[in-house]
Amino acid sequence: MKNELEEVLLTEEQIRTRVSEIAARITADYEGKDPVLVCVLKGAVFFMADLVREIRVPCEMDFMAVSSYGSSSDSSGVVRILKDLDAQVEGRHVIIVEDIIDTGLTLSYLMKNLKARNPADVQVCALLTKPARRKVDNPCRYVGFEVPNKFVVGYGLDYEERYRNLRFIAALPEEMLE
Ligand code: PRP
Repeated sequence: MKNELEEVLLTEEQIRTRVSEIAARITADYEGKDPVLVCVLKGAVFFMADLVREIRVPCEMDFMAVSSYGSSSDSSGVVRILKDLDAQVEGRHVIIVEDIIDTGLTLSYLMKNLKARNPADVQVCALLTKPARRKVDNPCRYVGFEVPNKFVVGYGLDYEERYRNLRFIAALPEEMLE
């Protein structure tokens, strides 16, 4: 599959190293706080799975699925909850775990939505950020890597549901995009 992809942006090893570093920071920051990590489906599943296994303080996992109205490659900012959290987060330390912050619109919605549930605190942990596409800036405490303004796939990120299972992150050539 590597051949049809333009270039590998982040190798499996780079991702593993960075995930461990972020997990170490979360471990240091959340001692005694029993955080709830909220994975935003589907893109963040592998990041979440690898991250929580490197965190050395007690923590919980929960999942949300959201869909933005509009085309699949362009976020509209109008978000619909397809699956909500199982648990109440009132009074809890919440960490939103995202695969990528692109326009920032999904995250803005999620922050507003979760803050309305009166948690003790909401922070964001995103593996990737693509600043060139940003429309709204949200404070993001933990960021893995900055990526260029290209369509990126792998390690959870898809193009029309494909490539999520790649162990690395790559850019899709322009000509492959419809
Ligand atoms: C991606 C990603 C974020 C959102 C970021 O999800 O996981 O949730 O888009 O885009 P934004 O910053 O422009 O709002 P997507 O809707 O592709 O769903 P998926 O994770 O199921 O692939």
